[in-house]
Amino acid sequence: MTLYDRIQESTAIVRSRLGGRAPAVGLVLGSGLGAFADTLVDAVRLPYEDLPHFAVSRVPGHAGRLVVGCVRGVTVAAMQGRVHFYEGHGLDVVTFPIRVLLALGVRTFVITNAAGGINQALSPGELVLISDHLNLFPEGPLRGENDDRLGTRFPDMTRAYAPELRDLARRAGKRAGLDLREGVYAGLPGPSYETPAEIRMLRTMGADLCGMSTVPEVIVANHQGARVLGISCVTNLAAGITGAPLSHAEVTETAAKAHASFVKLLEEILVELGKEGQG
Ligand code: HPA
Repeated sequence: MTLYDRIQESTAIVRSRLGGRAPAVGLVLGSGLGAFADTLVDAVRLPYEDLPHFAVSRVPGHAGRLVVGCVRGVTVAAMQGRVHFYEGHGLDVVTFPIRVLLALGVRTFVITNAAGGINQALSPGELVLISDHLNLFPEGPLRGENDDRLGTRFPDMTRAYAPELRDLARRAGKRAGLDLREGVYAGLPGPSYETPAEIRMLRTMGADLCGMSTVPEVIVANHQGARVLGISCVTNLAAGITGAPLSHAEVTETAAKAHASFVKLLEEILVELGKEGQG
C-alpha cells in the first residue's frame, strides 16, 4: 500500500469519527505538555491504537491519542503524544499523523517539544519560539519516492518556521505575560542524551536548543505547504553546562511546572489564529 493510500484510509476513519468537526489547526504536544488536550471543549478522543497506520508511543509522558475539539472557538486537532525515531520507527511512520491532519484540512501547525537549552542565556522552564532547525537525524522524512500529490520533490525550507506565526506568537505571549525569545533547534536521533562535547559542537554549529523530535514533522508539514509555529519548553540545561546528569524525570517534571504558562500561551495563540480566520 502506498503512503498516499495509507493516508486516505486513515483519514477516512478519523473523519467518520469527527461528527463534522473540521480542524484548522494541528497541535503536537511534547513530553509533559500533553495535558493541554484535556482542556479542549466538545472533544472527540481517538486512541492511536484504533487508527490504521498510527504507531503507539511507549514513552512515559506521552498519552497516545488524537483529540479534536475547540479552544476559544477554534477547532484544533491535538496529538496528545507522538512517536519518536528512537523508538525504532521510520520517519514516514513518525510523521504519518501529520499527513493525516493535513488531509483533514489542517493548514497551520503548532509543534511543541521539551528541549535541552544549549544557549546559556536560556533557563529551565522557559518557552522559546523555534526560528530554524538543524536536521541531525540520519535521514529525512521525505527520503524515498516522492508523491507529487502530496508535495514537491525538493521543498524549500527557507521559512520552515513561518515568520508571521512567530510575530503572532510574540503578540500572544505578551498577553500571557511572557517575553518570548527565539532559538535554533537541533533535532537529534537520541535516545541517549548528548555528551558535553556534542553540546559544544552543536553550540558552534549555531544551535540554541536540542531535542529528539519536531524536525521530521516540520519538514513534512512544509512539504505539503502548511505553516508551522514551533515552541520548545526548555526542560534542562544541556549536557555539561552544570555537570549534573540529565534524566527524563527532570524533563517531564520541568515541563509540568511550565504547564500553566504553556496553556495560557497556547490559548492566546489560538485566539490570534481565530482572528486570522483559522477557526
Ligand atoms: N537533549 C535532547 N533532548 C532533550 C533534552 C536534551 O537535553 N531535554 C529534553 N529533550
